[in-house]
Amino acid sequence: MARVVIIGASKGIGLETTRQALEAGHMVRAFARSAADISISDPKLEKVRGNALRSKDVAAAVNGMNAVIQALGVGLGDLFGPVHLFSDATRILVAAMQAQGVKRLISVTGFGAGDSRASINCLQLLPFRFFFGRAYDDKDVQERLIKDSALDWTIARPGLLTNGSRTGRYKVLKAPSQWRNGNISKPAAPLRCQAAPSLLAKVKQQRALSG
Ligand SMILES: NC(=O)c1ccc[n+]([C@@H]2O[C@H](COP(=O)([O-])OP(=O)(O)OC[C@H]3O[C@@H](n4cnc5c(N)ncnc54)[C@H](OP(=O)(O)O)[C@@H]3O)[C@@H](O)[C@H]2O)c1
Repeated sequence: MARVVIIGASKGIGLETTRQALEAGHMVRAFARSAADISISDPKLEKVRGNALRSKDVAAAVNGMNAVIQALGVGLGDLFGPVHLFSDATRILVAAMQAQGVKRLISVTGFGAGDSRASINCLQLLPFRFFFGRAYDDKDVQERLIKDSALDWTIARPGLLTNGSRTGRYKVLKAPSQWRNGNISKPAAPLRCQAAPSLLAKVKQQRALSG
């Protein structure tokens, strides 16, 4: 059992990871601005309302934890303006973890961040850059901050995730030659909730990069 704080726990990947971390027996601190709205009740769950861009909130969030899962996201409307959330929040998070000796970080960025951009095919690259370019430029900085840190990190870069029930069928592709976008039709798609076991499995693993 680990004590895990999930940064960005109120929705999407973070919420599903919260659910599955509790099922797996972990103590979970669920951190988000709207953490109070998380509808899960569990004695192992602590809901902490806070802003990932506020150092004081983040320092309190990582205090006493064995591991941090970072699953921050921006709204669709924010994709067309300047995006700094990922890099700014990561700068604050890395400093807080290093100051408190919390070493294990699992961060969700996305397929197309960092050196995985080269694996996007030409047809997908133009629309990808149009919609997600600003966010992924900031995720590039986020990944660089993590890789340059002394933390024991894993970066997870999922492809497109849709909502649906858990099938347990997913692949973690580690070799750059295997990287590809998981842009699959809905019935066979890698489902949003399938990112969670993959992230949780890494709570106790060593530094790695996976897509
Ligand atoms: N979903 C996909 O298909 C997919 C695919 C590939 C990569 N990704 C990446 O995975 C990440 C998570 O995606 P998602 O779909 O789970 O996102 P999401 O549903 O939009 O959830 C984002 C989370 O970030 C939190 N958040 C945002 N700003 C915050 C702040 N300043 N302080 C604290 N918490 C904050 C939100 O909580 P509050 O608003 O309550 O603060 C929410 O819990 C994103 O970076 C996304 O690009 C997603």
